[in-house]
Amino acid sequence: MFRNFKLVSRMVFGRGAFNQLDDILAAQRPPSGGGMIFLLDTVFAGSALESRIPRRSGDRIICVDVTDEPKTAEVDRLTAEAKAHGDTVGGISGVIGIGGGSTMDLAKAVSLMLANPGSAADYQGWDLIREPAVYHVGIPTLAGTGAEVSRTTVLTGPKKKLGINSDHTVFDQIVLDPELLAGVPADQRFYTGMDCYIHCIESLEGTYLNAFSKAYGEKALDLCRQVFLTPGPDSDDQLMMASYCGGMSIAYSQVGVCHAMSYGLSFVLGTHHGIGNCIAFNQLEAFYPEGVAEFKQMMRRHDIALPTGITRDISPDQMETMIDVALILEPLWENALGPNWRDQMSRERIAELYQRM
Ligand SMILES: [Fe+2]
Repeated sequence: MFRNFKLVSRMVFGRGAFNQLDDILAAQRPPSGGGMIFLLDTVFAGSALESRIPRRSGDRIICVDVTDEPKTAEVDRLTAEAKAHGDTVGGISGVIGIGGGSTMDLAKAVSLMLANPGSAADYQGWDLIREPAVYHVGIPTLAGTGAEVSRTTVLTGPKKKLGINSDHTVFDQIVLDPELLAGVPADQRFYTGMDCYIHCIESLEGTYLNAFSKAYGEKALDLCRQVFLTPGPDSDDQLMMASYCGGMSIAYSQVGVCHAMSYGLSFVLGTHHGIGNCIAFNQLEAFYPEGVAEFKQMMRRHDIALPTGITRDISPDQMETMIDVALILEPLWENALGPNWRDQMSRERIAELYQRM
């Protein structure tokens, strides 16, 4: 059986594409009223970007703090806030996420939960969502996560870090404007860019690889090398395209060992996805020798010093939890190591890898 792959319905790419947002949203505004909810990364509060948001009557901008990665409780709170606003303006016609992967994931999750009962935690898993989301748009201001094309919204719940994976999660529209990447701090740009690089390696080296994933993975890898090893004047355009292609590559295959390990770090220590991936990948020569060597070359070139010893002071219970969270992600291990992956990945081996981070 082949996966029947759900794609983002509409995409606009180019410098200044953000200026078309008002026209794009106009087609989604019902004559009977209703408003749009813009979820904006709080770093843009009061910024020129915020003033460029095409806000119309009934719309609301909610600034979201993504210092910590999104939690199901936060999704529930934002959904309640959006519903209460909708009650005063005749409904919610759309949710637009403007920010990095966390902000885009919050927009996806809120758009799903506006149409589905209960808590976001009830839907962490694969294909548990029943009703289509309200119209939702992703506008990245950081490139690399691939959240703009993925069918998941990664959330930390009371028991696990696991996405709401469903066809309904996929954005109806994305706006890829490389101008929005200007001003990203260099270390953050590197960590998020490496998320994309690692997507490429995990996809291209995985057992789930197919011609579709390979085509996108190779293109994204080529662009990552241009951006991080031989940067030129149009590197934001290339990075934005790399993020899209890397996301497409894993969407039709899977990520691997690094992402599984990184989820454990994130759940127990709150480590952000991009830097968590870098810390984990840096210790995975045994699994991805060439990729890790090239990654180290990119780190040297960009003068990046990763934190070390982050698991030094954790308790035995925390270590067990970290291992549990990593092992839940069975498709990732199977993609990386094949159907008999359990023969290679004992709890002791995972613990030994975590101890080196
Ligand atoms: Fe990732």
